[in-house]
Amino acid sequence: MDLARLNHPAKERARNPGTRPRAHGVFRVPALKLPADILTFLRAGLRDPRRVGAVAPSGRALARLITSEIAVSSGPVIELGAGTGVFTRALLDRGVPERELVLIEADPHFARLLQSRFPAAQVLAMGAGQLCRVDPFDGDAAGSVVSGLPLLSMPRREIMRILRGSFRRLRSGGAFYQFTYGPLCPVPGAILKRLGLRAQRIGWVASNLPPAAVYRIERARRPPARAHRV
Ligand SMILES: C[S@@+](CC[C@H](N)C(=O)[O-])C[C@H]1O[C@@H](n2cnc3c(N)ncnc32)[C@H](O)[C@@H]1O
Repeated sequence: MDLARLNHPAKERARNPGTRPRAHGVFRVPALKLPADILTFLRAGLRDPRRVGAVAPSGRALARLITSEIAVSSGPVIELGAGTGVFTRALLDRGVPERELVLIEADPHFARLLQSRFPAAQVLAMGAGQLCRVDPFDGDAAGSVVSGLPLLSMPRREIMRILRGSFRRLRSGGAFYQFTYGPLCPVPGAILKRLGLRAQRIGWVASNLPPAAVYRIERARRPPARAHRV
């Protein structure tokens, strides 16, 4: 969420003089008008705080950063934990056609919202760990995976399953983008090593609430070349 887009109480007071301090010194708190997506997020967070893992949707600056290396040629793209679709919109802004998007979302309310907002995209209401078992592009490999998943609140085994499934769907040279509120890459080093991956931080957004960093995760080495018969 961008801090600048919040309704500041001072701005509310300026618009509504009824919220001035009363004579006895008690401030009347104005009813805070929150954008609909923040309310949707708060409700989802109350239903399952660990799964949502955030207090509000990501802001536009973070959406721009996490999609900054994606181009039309990166399609098809898989988005994990799409929520209300902040990153999805940024992917469309980067030129990825809507029909080349697969949005994977475990919360059925978010999944319905996403399908109504992006009717040409394929929305799969399921856990991202199931990616090993589905082939969303009928054998075609994805160019990128963009993840808004709360990896820090997931067990290691689940992270491993998600990364393994994602790289099974990614073509050679494809990358997995993940944001985090933590100081380090949210994929433990042991998992990166085991799967032959490497992670690099590509930037940090101080204005996001909370501030967040983005990592690019890619294959560390090419698969060994097949031996040629002489
Ligand atoms: C931190 S929110 C990010 C939402 C959105 N990408 C954004 O940045 O505003 C995490 C999202 O991941 C979804 N999620 C959590 N665990 C998931 C899983 N195992 N598979 C798919 N989606 C999951 C949540 O329902 C939520 O929409």
